[in-house]
Amino acid sequence: MWWSNWFCTLLSIIPLTSAVFTDEIDVTDWALQSIGEYTCIIGDSIDSNLFVVLSQLEDTSLLSLVNRTNGNLLTRRATDSRITDIKLDESKQLIFLEYEDASSTASQLTVLSNEFYIAPITVDSGSSPISICQKQLLNRDDIIIDNKKNSLKIVDPHSKLTVLSTELPSNFDKLKYLKTDHAAELEFLISTTDLEYIYYQLVNDDLVNSWFRDESLANTIDYKFIDIDDHSMDSVILELQNEYQFDNIFQAYRFRVMTNINRSINFVKAHHYSPGRMITDFLNLDLIQNDSSDVKSLKLQEMNDLKFGFKKLLVVINKNGKITALDMNNQGNQTWSIQSKLSTPVLTFEWDKTSSQLIVFNLLGDYETWELLTPFAPPVFKINGSFKESFPQNRCEISKVSKLNQAQKSYFIEFSEGTCSNEEGVIVSLGKATRKNAIKQFITTHDATSINGHVISADNKLVPTWQINLKSDEKIVSFGTKPSLDVVNPGVVLGSREVLYKYLYPHIASYVVFNEATKKMYVNIIDTLKGEILVSQLHDKEHIDIDYPINLIIGENWIVYSYFSLEPIPEQKINVIELYESLTPDERKSNPTNYTSPLKQSIKPEFMACSYYFPEVITKMSLSETKFDITTKALILELENGQISFLPKLVVSARRKPESEMTDDDKMEFMAAPYVPAIPINDAYIISHVRDFIFDKSSQLGSVATNLESTSIVCDVGHDIFCSRITPSGPFDVLNPNFETGKLIFSIVICFVLCFVLRPYVTKSKIKSLWLVHE
Ligand SMILES: *[C@@H]1O[C@H](CO)[C@@H](O)[C@H](O)[C@H]1NC(C)=O
Ligand SMILES: *[C@@H]1O[C@H](CO)[C@@H](O)[C@H](O)[C@H]1NC(C)=O
Ligand SMILES: *[C@@H]1O[C@H](CO)[C@@H](O)[C@H](O)[C@H]1NC(C)=O
Ligand SMILES: *[C@@H]1O[C@H](CO)[C@@H](O)[C@H](O)[C@H]1NC(C)=O
Ligand SMILES: *[C@@H]1O[C@H](CO)[C@@H](O)[C@H](O)[C@H]1NC(C)=O
Ligand SMILES: *[C@@H]1O[C@H](CO)[C@@H](O)[C@H](O)[C@H]1NC(C)=O
Repeated sequence: MWWSNWFCTLLSIIPLTSAVFTDEIDVTDWALQSIGEYTCIIGDSIDSNLFVVLSQLEDTSLLSLVNRTNGNLLTRRATDSRITDIKLDESKQLIFLEYEDASSTASQLTVLSNEFYIAPITVDSGSSPISICQKQLLNRDDIIIDNKKNSLKIVDPHSKLTVLSTELPSNFDKLKYLKTDHAAELEFLISTTDLEYIYYQLVNDDLVNSWFRDESLANTIDYKFIDIDDHSMDSVILELQNEYQFDNIFQAYRFRVMTNINRSINFVKAHHYSPGRMITDFLNLDLIQNDSSDVKSLKLQEMNDLKFGFKKLLVVINKNGKITALDMNNQGNQTWSIQSKLSTPVLTFEWDKTSSQLIVFNLLGDYETWELLTPFAPPVFKINGSFKESFPQNRCEISKVSKLNQAQKSYFIEFSEGTCSNEEGVIVSLGKATRKNAIKQFITTHDATSINGHVISADNKLVPTWQINLKSDEKIVSFGTKPSLDVVNPGVVLGSREVLYKYLYPHIASYVVFNEATKKMYVNIIDTLKGEILVSQLHDKEHIDIDYPINLIIGENWIVYSYFSLEPIPEQKINVIELYESLTPDERKSNPTNYTSPLKQSIKPEFMACSYYFPEVITKMSLSETKFDITTKALILELENGQISFLPKLVVSARRKPESEMTDDDKMEFMAAPYVPAIPINDAYIISHVRDFIFDKSSQLGSVATNLESTSIVCDVGHDIFCSRITPSGPFDVLNPNFETGKLIFSIVICFVLCFVLRPYVTKSKIKSLWLVHE
């Protein structure tokens, strides 16, 4: 038919979108890159528009290039070994770096057009270079810093008269860099106690330039996500609740009709009875390029972000107790920051959603609570106190705090090994001790050589239950427990329509043990109620290098662990163990209708294991979280090269077989793929794109669910902070932003006209012509 052709043409006008990944930079993701604590600043003998800043990382150093005009970070370079000093050979105008590592010779540093060039050199014995880092700024007779009045004065070295003077901020800490001509010009950079670095340039006592860099985020030790709730649907929810109040269904129906009529009338009134305005508003047609409608499209975007749960705060805490909230929907812009009054070092903090409180803990057992009244205003101080009374000794040090019971605000506090005689931890509560615990709670702790099971007694005491001790040469190199997850599907449907039932027992922990003497590694999976070993896997054919990170995570019915093996060939490996009730299809051992306590009876799982190679060294591994756990889980990987990637769990499946062994039924299975041992890195899965990050050993990789089931927010919080959104199964629940609602509705209208107007018309004409009726 002519019109079906025409319809196809219409469809082909609607453009297809293609993904270009770098355009996601700063749109779906954002990053804050830090320098850290400045140990040395080079401002002379280089380009006068730049600063070179030296800062120390865990066991290496970082050189950063900063624009002297605005403080922007231009480039960074981490060195292979720690830099102890930077020296200047004045005769040759050479800047060279000296390393801690005695085997590394000094190297020359050159800065050319915003890049570093580092080349090894031999320093001649004849030259006498001067140290830039150890240059004393305090003992100079031309500078007077008055700490009481917070002022800095420059005096003339000959006449001892003050040439320039300026005020310093009240939290002034140190003078880091100063350059002056003792007449009219002064340029200096100071640090504050809050780890802020402030630069001033004075000309004739007038401030001509100033900027600051906040480096307090480089010392982040913990983070929490705070949701910003969407209240736009509250009136609708209230309406539905009101509707349920009616006894009579007709009254309820009348109420619904009336509210909808009211809403339509209001809509018409708001658009001044103009049908054109109503249609454009309804279809968002006015979002074409127009200054005032840009504001509108921004608002619409913001409304959607709020509805989709993308609007969140990332709250981070550093060692000094500074808590900063970053707006995740606004490039990590600082929303507020507060300073805890606890004695440092601060250990961690918790977010209690029901009472909107942040609870900060320090190493010695003191705490402080802050209440967040609205997400965008700084929280207010509530109470402080100490848990020390419930500690067995006064000098116990805390290593970990975990939330136990939301209602009673109780926490399990674990002590650092050896600081608190033999006690492992205590249970403390911020709330009132209410009813006795109805449900028994179990806690599993571990140290380097043992794993201990505990049950919490009715009076909130820790009672030991079982213990696993390792042999003398063995030590635990990785440990993980099963997170609480929603079970969506208890089985895996095979291609033959049979079902393999997953082993969904929740009380599971797993650990990796390395034997120093035999250099062998094994992985155990245990039942945390009874301490029973469910699965044990020995790796005795590989030479495992435990200097590389060993990661382990537990998901629904699987355990994934990664390690670096040196033999047979050096390679990063990812292994997976999947647990099933039985490997025979359609055999179910648990009885979902008859609950028996796992303490009385338990089923042992059957398992499958598989090993994969990965082309890059994995430093951290974490699991993506979504709202209902329906979306395919993804493993989020932090790589040694500073990139962040993810891998859908389906790729590392224990059930993949070589193609030759796959039956036709196997190929019918959802997302079935033949086993290929090497997992390639797919560019589309590198979510850090072209950026390079510096994450230290203590960095944390986390994920939080959004209101969209398909989408998960991923953050890596360490020296740098990076957040992005991932959709491991594709954004199946979001319309493309350039989805053409107008064209779709237009097509529907055309179809409607064709079916209900043209077709009857044509049929009628045909009949008329058959009957030879002339019009
Ligand atoms: C430093 O910043 C200023 C002002 O934004 C800019 O004009 C200049 O080009 C920058 N310098 C470098 C080297 O990027
Ligand atoms: C509809 O609006 C009128 C006046 O604005 C109000 O009196 C009435 O209660 C509303 N009806 C419903 C069902 O909301
Ligand atoms: C932009 O939109 C406003 C109404 O939102 C309208 O008054 C104005 O004329 C538009 N400007 C252009 C250039 O179309
Ligand atoms: C960041 O937040 C500050 C206030 O907290 C605000 O003044 C500023 O405009 C924000 N910047 C951006 C880019 O939104
Ligand atoms: C609580 O704060 C007050 C005032 O800052 C302080 O004097 C007191 O020592 C603090 N208590 C604890 C347990 O830290
Ligand atoms: C539930 O299981 C227990 C132990 O297996 C058994 O004794 C009991 O009869 C079962 N109850 C039902 C209703 O099947």
